[in-house]
Amino acid sequence: MIAGLFGVLLLSSCYYDNMEDLYPDTGGVCDTTNVTFSQTVLPVLQSHCTGCHSGSAPSGNISIVNYNDVVLLVHSGRLLGTIRHEQGYSPMPKGGNKLSNCDIAKLEKWISDGMPDN
Ligand code: HEC
Repeated sequence: MIAGLFGVLLLSSCYYDNMEDLYPDTGGVCDTTNVTFSQTVLPVLQSHCTGCHSGSAPSGNISIVNYNDVVLLVHSGRLLGTIRHEQGYSPMPKGGNKLSNCDIAKLEKWISDGMPDN
């Protein structure tokens, strides 16, 4: 069962790359209204990324602890590239499960909102 799920995730990460296809695993309910940096984006990153990407020797020399860190990563294309498991990027979280499609959709919403520091 777990192995099957993992296979599905791997497959879907290759084939699903537009918004419409991103929703099925949430049952169609993914609330991206009222997405903010402090209440939405940062908690997702703290749960899944900061464990490795913080401190005096962050993994890959990439710190992901505050607003400026996140904006820089978005501008370089690497935040979305790594969490969407796109070709040319190291898939993140490393060795862990891909973020839920809803979490990815929330980060995308915040980015399309112009990355407000709110
Ligand atoms: C278990 C530790 C671990 C976790 C958790 C983790 N990373 Fe990483 N990350 C690494 C290591 C180690 C590297 C450097 C080696 C590599 O690129 O694979 C790295 C590299 C990166 C890079 C540069 C790679 C590239 O292709 O540009 C980015 C960006 C990144 N991580 C973002 C994230 C984000 C965003 C999350 C959370 C969704 C995350 N990481 C979670 C360990 C981790």
